[in-house]
Parts: sequence; C-alpha cells; structure tokens
Amino acid sequence: MASFTPLSQSQSLLSKAHIKVASYKSPSLSSLNLQSSFAPKRLHLQFKVSVFNNKFGRMPLRASVVVAATTAEKPKKRYPGEAKGFVEEMRFVAMRLHTREQAKEGEKVAEKPEEKAIPKWEPSVDGYLRFLVDSKLVYDTLEEIVEKAAFPFYSEFRNTGLERSDALAKDLDWFREQGHSIPEPSSPGITYSQYLKELSENDPQAFICHFYNVYFAHSAGGRMIGRKVAEKILNGKELEFYKWDGDLSQLLQNVRDKLNKVAEAWTREEKDHCLEETEKSFKHSGEILRLIMS
Ligand code: HEM
Repeated sequence: MASFTPLSQSQSLLSKAHIKVASYKSPSLSSLNLQSSFAPKRLHLQFKVSVFNNKFGRMPLRASVVVAATTAEKPKKRYPGEAKGFVEEMRFVAMRLHTREQAKEGEKVAEKPEEKAIPKWEPSVDGYLRFLVDSKLVYDTLEEIVEKAAFPFYSEFRNTGLERSDALAKDLDWFREQGHSIPEPSSPGITYSQYLKELSENDPQAFICHFYNVYFAHSAGGRMIGRKVAEKILNGKELEFYKWDGDLSQLLQNVRDKLNKVAEAWTREEKDHCLEETEKSFKHSGEILRLIMS
C-alpha cells in the first residue's frame, strides 16, 4: 500500500514532542495509532483528509498534516508525496485508483474488464487495433496541444522523447501490411480527444493531470499490457508503441523535473484541482483500454 509521506515525516517529530492529534478521519491514518497519552501543551498536529465520492465509496484524495511548534507559528502543511515534488502527489492519487489486480499499491475493487488482472483478459486483434487507433488519436491530440501551446508553459513539454504518435503510426502501417484493415477512431478516443482540447484551453492544471497520467501510465502498466497482449495474440511481436529512443527512465525523469518546476508556481488550490482530475483521467483511459477486449 502507498505510504503517507507526511506521516512518516511527522512521526520523527512525534517521538520528540508531546503531541495532540486534533482530528483524523481516515482508517489508514488511524491504524498508525498516533494518539499520545502525554498532555498536549505546545505542539499541535492536525490531520485533514479530503475525500471524493465515486462508485467505490469515499476515496481519500489526500491527507494533510498541519504541524505547528506553537500556536503563534505559521502551520506547515504537507500532502502525501509533497516532499518529493508535485509529481509524487499526482502519482500517489493515481496509484490509489488502481485495483489490487493492476498494481500492488492499488486500492480499488476490480469491476470493469480492464480492471482485472491482465492474464485474465481476452483480447482480440480487432479490439487491440481499435485500442491502438484511439490511443493514437489521444497522443496526436496531446502532441498538437503542446505544439500549439495555448498556455506558454506547455511548450516545455514538446519533444520530451515520450511522444507516441509516430510510433503508433508505424504500428498501424505494420498491421495494414499484415492484411488488417485499420478502423476509424471510435467514441472513447474521440470523446477524450475533444475533452483534452477543451481543457487545454480553459483549465491548464486539469490538462496537466491528463498529460502526466497518459504518458506515465503507458510507461508503467501500458508496457505490461503490451507484453501480455502480444504474447496472447501477436506471437510476442513487440510494437513500436512500447519502444522509446534513449533511456526511458531518464526521459521520464526529465519530464518529472519539468512538471515539478511548473507546479511550483501553482497555488495549493490549483494543485488540488489538478489532483482531483485524476479520476477523469482513469475513466477516459479505462474506456480506451476496454476496447482491447471488444
Ligand atoms: C490495466 C490497467 C493498468 C495496469 C495493469 C496498471 C499497472 C500499473 C503498474 C504496475 C504501475 C507501476 C507501479 C509501481 O511503480 O510499482 C502503474 C503505475 C502507474 N499507473 Fe497504472 N495501470 C493501469 C492503468 C492505469 C490507468 C488507466 C492510469 C491513468 C490514466 C494509470 C496511471 C498510472 C500512473 C500515473 C502510474 C505511475 C507511473 C510512475 O510511477 O512513473 N494506470 N500502473
């Protein structure tokens, strides 16, 4: 399970000071048993847990810890992952939206076909082609958005080496050469592409959430999917979609650094708004993933 960075940080404080836990609501937090029998005199700790409601209940989005050495001192808030930078905050929220079958840090219960373990999937070549075509539309859209740069900072995310449009074009050519007809984009890809265009012009923080999730999901779960699906229906053929020029971990790190830098200029409200968009990112990408089994 994902760890609550701020708690471990504050725990070192706890061992040295007399602590009062002012309030907490999350079961994960309560399991840490931070209540102290020592009288709270000067140091004051408060947990705030934001939740968002969805199909699988009330999902903690973030937990914040307010630490103040005296009541006169300005409280210092910390959010899960915050110490490492904003990307870690986005990752924390994303990992909780996985199912346990998808990733070990996942907390959601699997309901939809794409939320089950990949070995249980029943992919078809036609379905996989629909997935690749819709994925290409999404990557075309993301790459056009950063090229156009409706907000100047989007230009930071041009030519990161994570782009997937050209690789997908090559893969679709390969399928064509194998005698497959390539379908037109379908509703999940068209809807997501339209949504991304609108967000990119009106809501840059929400847009960045999608940008992060799409590229980073593909580098993690996406690669596992590619390998397992290829074993089942493509005789193990490795598509260009799953190959990057250069060291992938370095490319990812470069983008993490840029995302962290951009988010440094955001207010806490803007950061929270970005994190709250993660669920929509999972919804749209999940609908496209489901095409593999259609
Ligand atoms: C079948 C579907 C999926 C599977 C099997 C899967 C699996 C995984 C796994 C194994 C990881 C790596 C965990 C680790 O670092 O130990 C991961 C990371 C991640 N996934 Fe997924 N995932 C899936 C779908 C998604 C979706 C739909 C999204 C969002 C659109 C997403 C977003 C992410 C993100 C942001 C990371 C963090 C990547 C990083 O640390 O750099 N995943 N996923």
